[in-house]
Amino acid sequence: MESMGTLRRTHYCNVLGKENVGEEVILMGWVLRRRDHGGVIFIDLRDRRGITQVVFNPEVNPEVHAKAHQLRSEWVLAVKGRVEARPGDMANPKLATGEIEVLVSELRILNTSETPPFPLDEESDVSDNLRLQYRYLDLRRPEMSANLVMRHKAVQAIRAYLNDHDFLDIETPMLTRSTPEGARDYLVPSRVNAGRFYALPQSPQLFKQLLMMAGMDRYYQIVKCFRDEDLRADRQPEFTQIDMEMSFVDEEQVIKTTEGMIEALFDKTLGLDVAPPFKRISYDESMDRFGTDRPDMRFGLELTDLTGIAAGCGFKVFRDVADGGGTVRAINARGCAVFSRKDLDVLTEYVLQFGARGLAWVKMKAGGEWQSPIAKFFTDEERSLVNTALEAVEGDLLFFGADKSSVVFQSLGELRVELARRLGLVKENTFDFVWVTDFPLVEYDEKEKRFQALHHPFTAPRHDQLELLDSDPGKVYSRAYDLVLNGTEIGGGSIRIHQKDVQSKVLLALGISEEEAQQKFGFLLKSLELGAPPHGGIAFGLDRLLMIITGSSSIRNVIAFPKTQKATCPLTDAPAAVSRKQLTELHLRPDWKEKE
Ligand code: AMO
Ligand code: AMP
Repeated sequence: MESMGTLRRTHYCNVLGKENVGEEVILMGWVLRRRDHGGVIFIDLRDRRGITQVVFNPEVNPEVHAKAHQLRSEWVLAVKGRVEARPGDMANPKLATGEIEVLVSELRILNTSETPPFPLDEESDVSDNLRLQYRYLDLRRPEMSANLVMRHKAVQAIRAYLNDHDFLDIETPMLTRSTPEGARDYLVPSRVNAGRFYALPQSPQLFKQLLMMAGMDRYYQIVKCFRDEDLRADRQPEFTQIDMEMSFVDEEQVIKTTEGMIEALFDKTLGLDVAPPFKRISYDESMDRFGTDRPDMRFGLELTDLTGIAAGCGFKVFRDVADGGGTVRAINARGCAVFSRKDLDVLTEYVLQFGARGLAWVKMKAGGEWQSPIAKFFTDEERSLVNTALEAVEGDLLFFGADKSSVVFQSLGELRVELARRLGLVKENTFDFVWVTDFPLVEYDEKEKRFQALHHPFTAPRHDQLELLDSDPGKVYSRAYDLVLNGTEIGGGSIRIHQKDVQSKVLLALGISEEEAQQKFGFLLKSLELGAPPHGGIAFGLDRLLMIITGSSSIRNVIAFPKTQKATCPLTDAPAAVSRKQLTELHLRPDWKEKE
């Protein structure tokens, strides 16, 4: 192994071109590929920015050439040499530096490498676990480093925009109390306060509101949040929010300011004009048409309500649901009557995982006739009513869901997305934004037998519905808004309650006693009595935004060191066992057996 000596890098590996021919340059990087062509050795040298071909020619420099014989994948080199034009037919148009190569006169081997546990030079089928275990190797791959570069650009664009709009970047504590986002907390035991625990923040929600009470007026933070919940492709236990709060604003100002931020973000990352203002849809309409509050608007396949028609029909399953206060809805998959029995079985299985009890279907024949196991239960008139409602014509395939509305919405909503995927209806490279507004303030939790806040308990109810809060809280709408992009919720926020009496009413409706409220967030309630300004805000999921911007299938690909589905880190092996002594210091007495 050698040192860099006096060699200092002159260029990154992505920049040299014809205009540099004849120059003496020094490059540093990793051996990506090595080819031996009749004595001449070619190395693709890679760094963060790109690749340059460097050449060792025995006739030009026998000593250096002999040394180059040992080079292997991922060895670390410093090379000095002259830039030469590649002969016309040897140029590689796919490579930024494809018109030149560097003829090496001096080689220093800065480090060697064992054979990497997976090849870095191609889209190879490497297990996610292995990639995470050797994440530093995984991140050497150009598509992965490009994601981190994109993340950097995104953060810079967001900061620039918010700084320009009078926002202050203020940090909030990581060791704090439980915050009200409704997931499970990560807890940290206190050594100096026996039996007490900090919670890692699920969001800086309460602190950013307190910053408004402090007169900071406009706050932002690009901040880690922690939630101990079941993980999915777009969910990590620690993730990053672009968190914002503003004083003296209403919904329109928050929406307008953040649309400007999203516009700047897409301009600076993808060079794309997303052209706000974005569409808006109410929560009720979104559920009704798409079965979800995060609708993917890039394709149709909307839900149609058939409860009225089903109420009197001869199919007992539908009739019972309709009579029992449930809902019967359907999707028309146009032209899909060609689906096989197997396709239908697979799709039925698919909806069962969302709690559906079945998936009735109808293949449309000529003259409005049905081919379907349930055809016999419907009169000609009922069939024709359904056909008209769904605008069904020969060759179409109709899917039906009948159940309580939450089950129908979820199962048909997911079926809609799955059908679009199978049918290739999802337009690539489109960015379809939609604000979802007018959420219900609360929803009834069947398990807990009480109302829960749909966003969090500090979200303001609509001004004109304060009276309803006491009598019928389920009917009250909130001043919350979510931004949805291509079917992913990328941000959510609300105008907050800034008046003590309103806050008390909402807590009461949520079944939170005065005592419990005092104990959990008395500090916030107190601040409402000490000159709290009207305020509101929003938080965006930075990882989710980047997942979409980079076209990744998971937010893991845009996070340098993410966790697995089981919330572990194969690189550091966290979470790890700790010694009994450490636990004792923290006043914890484990009842599990210590592994030796
Ligand atoms: P919310 O809980 O909706 O709101 O979170 C805001 C946004 O954060 C992203 N997000 C996640 N991303 C990755 N992994 C997760 N586990 C995860 N959970 C949430 C989503 C979501 O839209 N304090 C409020 C905001 C406010 O009212 O201002 C809050 O945290 O993109
Ligand atoms: P069955 O009468 O149970 O054989 O069901 C006839 C068809 O209706 C089958 O295709 C079932 O998948 C479907 N089905 C049963 N229950 C439901 C339901 N709750 N919603 C939608 N389809 C259903």
